Amino acid sequence: MNKIEVLAEQADNKNIPQHIAIIMDGNGRWAQLQGKGRVSGHKAGVESVRAVVASARKSNIKALTLFAFSSENWQRPAKEVGVLMDLFMYVLTKEVKRLHKHNIRFQVVGDLSRFSDKLQKNIAKSEQLTADNTGLVLSIAANYGGRWDIVQAAKKLASDVKQGTMTLDDINEESLNEQTCLADLPTLDLLIRTGGDYRISNFLLWQAAYAELYFTDTLWPDFNEMQFLEAISCFDHRERRFGKTGEQARNAKI
Ligand code: IPE
Ligand code: IPE
Ligand code: MG
Repeated sequence: MNKIEVLAEQADNKNIPQHIAIIMDGNGRWAQLQGKGRVSGHKAGVESVRAVVASARKSNIKALTLFAFSSENWQRPAKEVGVLMDLFMYVLTKEVKRLHKHNIRFQVVGDLSRFSDKLQKNIAKSEQLTADNTGLVLSIAANYGGRWDIVQAAKKLASDVKQGTMTLDDINEESLNEQTCLADLPTLDLLIRTGGDYRISNFLLWQAAYAELYFTDTLWPDFNEMQFLEAISCFDHRERRFGKTGEQARNAKI
């Protein structure tokens, strides 16, 4: 057995995270190291997305959420933003049939209103095509910000209170959670960041409250199935205590 098969087999018998999110960082630096423009790093990053989606599917992970474009990324040079939008459109058009064939439910989370009509329509079409699929749920976070997510959830609750369909006392962690993106998915278990930085960059602020964090120096285009399985394997060795003592946590497991 090669290392991937060993890790995959280990993953089968393990405490598998149900929901994994990834901050796919390091495309620009990867390209610069090769003496190329940043854009080629984004293009190369698509291959890592394919590898991780295939591996998540094989490992029976329920939900995979990928950070593709943050609400702050609009501040990049217009040319880079344009290329990222074109790439998004191209990948959507090209890959969605394959996702559908593999029973993957696809969705995009974030404030989609800032995208072109064409892109918004393409996203809606892709979501509709895969809406009834029962396998892996693949969420792409685009023009997403964790603070935006909490604000839009708060707005929905405020509007319900205003309309009288709920009272102020009905606002609690559960009802606010219900209005956040990804609320219908299992709780986030593992948050991976590639590219060597140790920060959340306004990703899933609410959802990551008790997620295990995994940081790697690997730049996103170099991230592959083996590295993904290694992150899952590392998760298996973490003791999740959720505020309790280690002893309590271990006893609860037995
Ligand atoms: C992540 O790679 C992709 C996006 C943010 C769209 P970067 O483009 O941030 O790459 P680095 O961090 O500059 O290397
Ligand atoms: C986070 O990466 C966003 C995505 C991976 C889409 P950034 O490269 O934008 O994060 P910062 O700017 O280094 O915090
Ligand atoms: Mg970056």
